[in-house]
Amino acid sequence: DTNQSWGGRFSEATDAFVARFTASVDFDRRLYRQDIQGSIAHATMLAEAGVLTEAEKTQIIDGLTGIRADIEAGKFEWSVALEDVHMNIESALTQRIGITGKKLHTGRSRNDQVATDIRLYLRDEIDAIGAELTRLQQGLIGLAERNADTIMPGFTHLQTAQPVTFGHHLLAWNEMLERDHGRLMDCRKRVNQSPLGAAALAGTTYPIQRELTARLLGFDAPTENSLDSVSDRDFAIEFCAFASLLMTHLSRASEELVLWTSAQFNFIHLPDRFCTGSSIMPQKKNPDVPELVRGKSGRVNGHLIALLTLMKSQPLAYNKDNQEDKEPLFDAVDTVKDCLRAFADMIPAIEPNVASMREAARRGFSTATDLADYLVRKGVAFRDAHEIVGKSVAYGIAQKKDLSEMRLDELRQFSDTIEQDVFDVLTLEGSVAARNHVGGTAPDQVRAACGRARDKLATR
Ligand code: ARG
Repeated sequence: DTNQSWGGRFSEATDAFVARFTASVDFDRRLYRQDIQGSIAHATMLAEAGVLTEAEKTQIIDGLTGIRADIEAGKFEWSVALEDVHMNIESALTQRIGITGKKLHTGRSRNDQVATDIRLYLRDEIDAIGAELTRLQQGLIGLAERNADTIMPGFTHLQTAQPVTFGHHLLAWNEMLERDHGRLMDCRKRVNQSPLGAAALAGTTYPIQRELTARLLGFDAPTENSLDSVSDRDFAIEFCAFASLLMTHLSRASEELVLWTSAQFNFIHLPDRFCTGSSIMPQKKNPDVPELVRGKSGRVNGHLIALLTLMKSQPLAYNKDNQEDKEPLFDAVDTVKDCLRAFADMIPAIEPNVASMREAARRGFSTATDLADYLVRKGVAFRDAHEIVGKSVAYGIAQKKDLSEMRLDELRQFSDTIEQDVFDVLTLEGSVAARNHVGGTAPDQVRAACGRARDKLATR
């Protein structure tokens, strides 16, 4: 058989393979709730406009509500022959309430219908993702506050650079996530526009009220141009761009967590419940959760590229290509939600190995810049101070001694400007405390930054 919804002009049945090839119901049935929500708003508007009677509207809404209950009870039979979620539900409606069901599609097309469904779906998911991102940031800020005084080596080029506080490092991650949240909310504004009423591409001849359906569905406004409305998937691309950046940030954090749990770093302890073992090596405890998050960033980047490529040569207006928007978008949403959940659960459970971090900061001459700054304060030009400290470091490497372990007379070989008070700046505590300005690593600054970060979460 041809599809009963559009079979009128066809003289032979759809090829069985083509029916399967063109069907999307296996994945777009996920949109059933939004599809029914959109149809209820559309029917309500049609009655308001005098296109449907009140009785017809009520019949349609009752029918759709019953269908939703059937779907949720697992009693709905999805049919590939009916192609997609829209025609499955419309056909069930007609079976259920008779001829009135056939009036639902008045003044509407699947083209504006599907665009409406995806936007409703994505808006809900954006809100869920925003909440989970906030939960992660709360955990991160809490861990940062507890570790405002915990000293670790800061790195550039993955080589020990200067001491920082662990809290400061965690707040760097929080800044990335704060920007991600801003991007998500910005994307939401462009998602939350109603394409309903654009119909197939040109609008419709019925006296529809686009403001009414927009309002009923919680959209900010109807979209401006009917051709654009049915063909625009920018909003999905923007979401995937947000998702790619978020996953990039989670992947960078994951990479550090993986390094830090290794015996070579030994900076943190990840509770067993976030790790798994090896089938052959009995001693192993692997940081699978951060590894998987790092790995999953790849598929989300792939979805962004898939959607960009899907759209790049499409002529206006709707093309069947757009059916391919759903699987990448759905998988990006699912992946981001899972990864955020894993991180939000895991971050507060991280236990720092304070002694081991401190020992690592002590190695590697991390206070060398502090010594140079000390000499500058005593009147030495920075470039000369750099040279003096470089020689002190070379001596320390040869003698296997950190700068703070040298005697005053050893240090004075390189500059007689150095005096007893040098030891105040060569300690790790002195080094971090001295970076005492907005954005600096000093413990007091980290505590203040935690407060500001929390205030931002409170006003979301
Ligand atoms: N399943 C289709 C999609 O996902 C619905 C819209 C179909 N419209 C059409 N004219 N074939 O895009």
